[in-house]
Amino acid sequence: MPRILITSALPYINGIKHLGNLAGSMLPADVYARFQRARGHETLYICATDEHGTPAELAAAEAGQDIGEYCEAQHRIQYEIGRRFGLSWDHFGRSSSPQNHRLTQSFAQSLWEAGFIEERVTQQVFSLDDRRFLPDRYVIGTCPYCGYEAARGDQCENCTRVLDPADLIQPRSAISGSTQIEIRDSKHLFLRQSLFAPKLRDWIDSKNRDWPNLVTSIAYKWLDEGLQDRGITRDLSWGVPVNAMDWGPDPEGRLPDVAGLADKVFYVWFDAPIEYIAATWEWSDARALEIGRTPDDGDWERWWREPAAADVTYVEFMGKDNVPFHTVGFPCTLFGINERLGPDGRWSRRENAPWKLVDALKGFNWLNYYGGKFSTSQHRGVFMDTALEILPADYWRWWLTANSPESADSSFTWEQFRDQVNADLADVLGNFVNRICKFTENRFDGQVPAGGEPGPLEQRLAADVAAKLAELTGYLEEREFRKSTTALRQLWVLGNQYLTEAAPWTAIKSDRDRAAVAVRAGLDLVALFAKLSEPFIPFAAETIARAVGEPYPARWPQPGQVLGTLPAGRKVAAPEVLFRKLEDAQIAEWTARFGGAELEPA
Ligand code: MF3
Ligand code: ZN
Repeated sequence: MPRILITSALPYINGIKHLGNLAGSMLPADVYARFQRARGHETLYICATDEHGTPAELAAAEAGQDIGEYCEAQHRIQYEIGRRFGLSWDHFGRSSSPQNHRLTQSFAQSLWEAGFIEERVTQQVFSLDDRRFLPDRYVIGTCPYCGYEAARGDQCENCTRVLDPADLIQPRSAISGSTQIEIRDSKHLFLRQSLFAPKLRDWIDSKNRDWPNLVTSIAYKWLDEGLQDRGITRDLSWGVPVNAMDWGPDPEGRLPDVAGLADKVFYVWFDAPIEYIAATWEWSDARALEIGRTPDDGDWERWWREPAAADVTYVEFMGKDNVPFHTVGFPCTLFGINERLGPDGRWSRRENAPWKLVDALKGFNWLNYYGGKFSTSQHRGVFMDTALEILPADYWRWWLTANSPESADSSFTWEQFRDQVNADLADVLGNFVNRICKFTENRFDGQVPAGGEPGPLEQRLAADVAAKLAELTGYLEEREFRKSTTALRQLWVLGNQYLTEAAPWTAIKSDRDRAAVAVRAGLDLVALFAKLSEPFIPFAAETIARAVGEPYPARWPQPGQVLGTLPAGRKVAAPEVLFRKLEDAQIAEWTARFGGAELEPA
């Protein structure tokens, strides 16, 4: 049985995530993790906050907080909200953890000693008043091409030309507005990605058949445009320090310029993916304390390093903007540690236990809000905290999974949200569970009834349910989330159709045994639906399981195990309303509060 390692793109520390972020990484990863656990696979779902980089520093400054305190508080907030959304992370770590510092530094050292890192002197903008180097996009000035006065140092928003801060006329600091700016030389480390191009292409070719087209097309586009060496250090104070003191010589005998590299930290996109591994180490250390094992004993490596990890299938979830970093950037880092590049241009495995690369990569398009982008900076759309203020997590989980932006961008509108949630959750699932449980309470003393033999109606039901269950299972294995919600909804519909046909409320007047058979079948379906719905709507699933006295969470059923599962005599109690129907008045209120159709582009 394979072990399943799952990561979802690490959310940036600055601010609570919107539903678009959730839909395109953490939520589908959670559905998948819950499914794999229910299947009985040893599963590890790892996530963390991505805490480094200038936006984090600036957000802390804006909040008037020390960066370390800011990150700690924001990490806590994101953790709590994720839990309330039912995200079943085995660990939700922090990219600023000591484990990530150690791993990131040791990875960089290996890459240096293998000759994959080079020092270069670059020109950086220094702001005298801010007393710091400014990243390109924090330098603003007049565009030399179109005259736009607020062009950013990396790109002019007006004419879209790519710029260098040195191109700007009258450059100034975006932080303080100061024009006291000069260009200074600064030593930086570059990862020689260009060396990896043929190796990466072979690797992507080997994945091409299995990975979604969205993912491989992005990877090929990067490869076709030619891989550039990439600066992996920054002149910032917040981050993983380079700390090259102990590095040995590279293959040409060069030692790093320790003094020139002092005060540098690694680029956030270098250390963030390494945190997938480091967060697993954090998980292992935290668990060691719980179960009385010695922390730091390397147990986590069995998820990440061959040969111990040979039975691990590693699956990554992310939005499409993240795909280049996961198909090119992070794999280069790992290849550079796992393998050696000979002078003849041939790659060979190094003798150390190699690190695991991704096996399956699920990328998502955008979820929009009324045809426009969800936006953190403009606060457009619905965010995870406000979403939970107005409705329980399952409403959101269901809709976001059923409308997953898999093959194309999709859009959230309040009207569609209302219609689908009311139809699927209230009218189909909620109604089914309620009908059959209430009837059992009223006519069978709140117990699974005995008596009668299943007939042709039940045989057909069992066959239809088994076929749909196989479909649902297949879609989940393939990580086809929209299709899996369709299959699950069809299962719920089968339940309602059966009850309508079997009509125990009519049968009971003349044939109690017949009614008992139908009620048993209905209750078996309630138990089944609790299991099958758990990955999608875990809170409601628990309530449903409890209504028929079933354990929660439960194992995923085999196709043969659909009817005849509940023992006669088992207590049944109809749950409180499972799903309230959304009223037009509420929708009107939320549309007014969050914005609605007026946000559609003309
Ligand atoms: N924080 C990034 C984003 O939200 C994702 C980082 S994923 C990782 O776009 F691999 F780098 F961790
Ligand atoms: Zn311009």
